[in-house]
Amino acid sequence: MRPIKVMSVFGTRPEAIKMAPLVMQLQAMPEFESICCLTGQHREMLDSVMDIFRLKADYDLHIMQARQTLSSITSRTLLGMEDVITQAKPDLILVHGDTSTTFAGALAAFYHRIPVGHVEAGLRTWDKYSPYPEEMNRTLTGDIAELHFCPTANNRANLEREGIRGEKFLTGNTVIDAMKTTVRPDYVFQTPELNGLDFAGRRVLTLTCHRRENYGQPMTDILTAVRELAERHPEIEVVYPVHLSPAVRETAFCILKDVPRVHLIDPIDVEEMHNLMARSYFVMTDSGGLQEEAPALGKPVLVLRRETERPEAVEAGTVLLAGVEKERILRLAEELLTDPETYQKMAKAVNPYGDGHASERIAQAILWYFHRRGDRPADFQPGT
Ligand code: UD1
Ligand code: UDP
Repeated sequence: MRPIKVMSVFGTRPEAIKMAPLVMQLQAMPEFESICCLTGQHREMLDSVMDIFRLKADYDLHIMQARQTLSSITSRTLLGMEDVITQAKPDLILVHGDTSTTFAGALAAFYHRIPVGHVEAGLRTWDKYSPYPEEMNRTLTGDIAELHFCPTANNRANLEREGIRGEKFLTGNTVIDAMKTTVRPDYVFQTPELNGLDFAGRRVLTLTCHRRENYGQPMTDILTAVRELAERHPEIEVVYPVHLSPAVRETAFCILKDVPRVHLIDPIDVEEMHNLMARSYFVMTDSGGLQEEAPALGKPVLVLRRETERPEAVEAGTVLLAGVEKERILRLAEELLTDPETYQKMAKAVNPYGDGHASERIAQAILWYFHRRGDRPADFQPGT
């Protein structure tokens, strides 16, 4: 029997990190022919992930432009995928998450009547402008997809409530699969700034902040809170790998450059990042991925956003929605630094997002969809 031709389409750093274990899983199974199409929505940050996981692109649309607009990402992806789909003729197209690549990749597949599998399906805030444009990207992708791979039961329930068509599988999040290979106790950092840090003697905080809905005043307030925190607490070191977006870099360097013990560094590769978090005291972030990774490492997280589509770790007590207001962020961060009871309560390792086998479940679900196995794969059970 001919292998099922699965084309994975992705373009940004987080999509690549979370698709890598699945692509490797598909490559390892003779039932599949796995091909990768990069949109290149990101460049350096995407290439770094491809290198770490030793993945090769079969197609690369090279769409990235400096300060690109949402319309440019979407239209360039849509047009670029015309030729790729016509040439490759995949049986299934996989997209991941909620970026503009995700939505445009799914739409391109639909225009060619190719079924779509949505990895990391069913996350919702119910606010179409927050996160922006991600909430709408994932909702529209959900409408297009035939197969929905939901990390948590809550994500699957969201799709059921919306009456979304298609098959819904509870798989766990593939990011936990990725962490099996990246986090190592004996890991040695390559980045000189990280090598020079005294993780045992100092309290290292990991910070990231990059989201479009935080551009402008919210980002200014968040980073001003960080500046005041560093000024008030000589015992901390803040490491902020600054996203390559010019909008982010301008604000970050304007507010935090030359602040003592705040280390503004370029984006680091995913192994460095996971091991940095594993050795940090806590994490402050508006990132989606970090909200899943840090709890798995037992690290408290202050989420620098007004809402989250990842309520599971908030319910478990490891993640706190800190918002974007300066005084509140400062107060919550200081509480974590000064109140051991608050810290301990948040620092318990919970892993609501996966057990490291999400990619296997997704591969098996695809086999089931194409009638290559009789029964549906069993659901992911958190805590097992
Ligand atoms: C995108 C996603 C967001 C995700 C984030 C992960 C959309 C609309 N947004 O946002 O959901 O959280 O990726 O990081 O899909 N740049 C480079 N080199 C790179 C990457 C980016 O120079 O490797 C610069 C370019 O000037 C680019 C800008 O960053 O125009 C913004 O990139 P873009 O993909 O549009 O938005 P992100 O904020 O990265
Ligand atoms: N990450 C990384 N290097 C960095 C910052 C983040 O490898 O300098 C990883 C992080 O561990 C996570 C992913 O990138 O796996 C999150 O990406 P990002 O925050 O850009 O996007 P989001 O998850 O918010 O969509």
